[in-house]
Amino acid sequence: MQRALAASRGVRGRTSPNPWVGAVLVRGGRVVGTGATAPDGGPHAEARALAGGQRGGTLYVTLEPCAPFPGKRTQPCAEAIIEAGVERVVVALIDAEPRVQGRGVELLREAGVEVEVGDGAAEAAALLRPYLKQRETGRPYVIAKFAATLDGRIAAAGGDSQWITGEAARERAHEQRAWVDAILVGSGTALADDPALTARPGGAMAGRQPLRVVLDGRGRLSPEARLLGKPGRTLVATSHEADAGWKAALAEAGAQVVECEHDGAGLNLDQLLGALTERGVLSIWAEGGGAVLGSLFEGGHVDEAWAFLAPSVMGGDGVAAVGPAGVARAADAIRLRERTVELLGEDLLVRGYTGDWSPRVQ
Ligand SMILES: NC(=O)c1ccc[n+]([C@@H]2O[C@H](COP(=O)([O-])OP(=O)(O)OC[C@H]3O[C@@H](n4cnc5c(N)ncnc54)[C@H](OP(=O)(O)O)[C@@H]3O)[C@@H](O)[C@H]2O)c1
Repeated sequence: MQRALAASRGVRGRTSPNPWVGAVLVRGGRVVGTGATAPDGGPHAEARALAGGQRGGTLYVTLEPCAPFPGKRTQPCAEAIIEAGVERVVVALIDAEPRVQGRGVELLREAGVEVEVGDGAAEAAALLRPYLKQRETGRPYVIAKFAATLDGRIAAAGGDSQWITGEAARERAHEQRAWVDAILVGSGTALADDPALTARPGGAMAGRQPLRVVLDGRGRLSPEARLLGKPGRTLVATSHEADAGWKAALAEAGAQVVECEHDGAGLNLDQLLGALTERGVLSIWAEGGGAVLGSLFEGGHVDEAWAFLAPSVMGGDGVAAVGPAGVARAADAIRLRERTVELLGEDLLVRGYTGDWSPRVQ
């Protein structure tokens, strides 16, 4: 199972909207096949592990093999496993996909295959959090990220924020950008920084770029903005009231423009997250700025927080890392669960889970 988990980790985020799964086939005490899910539309991990044509054996798989359902594009893995004469299947986690949820295991057992569930469940669930949340709730998994001074400032009063943290912290952020499905920022950040919003782990442009998402209710992003000319796709969320000529100019510059309701505080985040789900987005790396992170926390949309903290102080003139989030009393502050703390060069990375959702581990 550890090898199956490693195979899954190797394709994390590259298979959306499908889950990243790993599978290992063992016969006579030897590993005879290893597989990980191919990008959307390609073979699943189980099919790849079975591709050697070996019959029988034990298959270790990080997520329940899929069962048939209408509209399915690949052979259901449970059927492929039965056809291959596999005698025993060890499954880490039951699938949260409502069209499968236990039916894959049932099908195997009906065919006389011995099935064991739960080995490696906690690790598989941690690895598959974005997929599990999206399938259980219909909403993407949101990671709030900010790079702040010790007193929680992400930019100077004039908007300048380059750079608050050092190279190691920025490299870590690029590694994260490289596996998520979308990077999200507000118009304040897009206008102040004119960012590229590309994933460049190790300084090189990643082959697969996350969808860039800008929240821009008043239609202020320039069609000349740097991010519009970068590899990968850009989605600009705006309001119904935004200027039609501006929308056309953005579409001409290659952006997809999506309209959401705009209440006084900003664009309706439920609608935006729904629109991103429809586009197959499982995970969102929300980079700010403060206003957008505040709204995301206030709406209960944030599942995980990554705070890169520099050993510096800016004072109250700077921009707050998280804007108004609806916290009235100290006791109501949003606390992180299962925290980890790392030192990255001179900076600290504090991260943990937030929000109401946690994966169910059987
Ligand atoms: N150090 C860091 O990690 C970091 C990261 C990012 C940004 N920054 C800095 O942060 C500063 C920008 O932060 P900011 O707080 O001023 O701006 P922001 O959060 O980037 O953008 C805020 C704007 O987004 C739009 N928006 C649309 N829907 C929204 C919603 N539901 N909730 C909130 N905003 C929504 C609003 O403009 P409309 O009304 O036009 O829609 C709002 O004014 C810049 O100086 C940037 O350099 C630092």
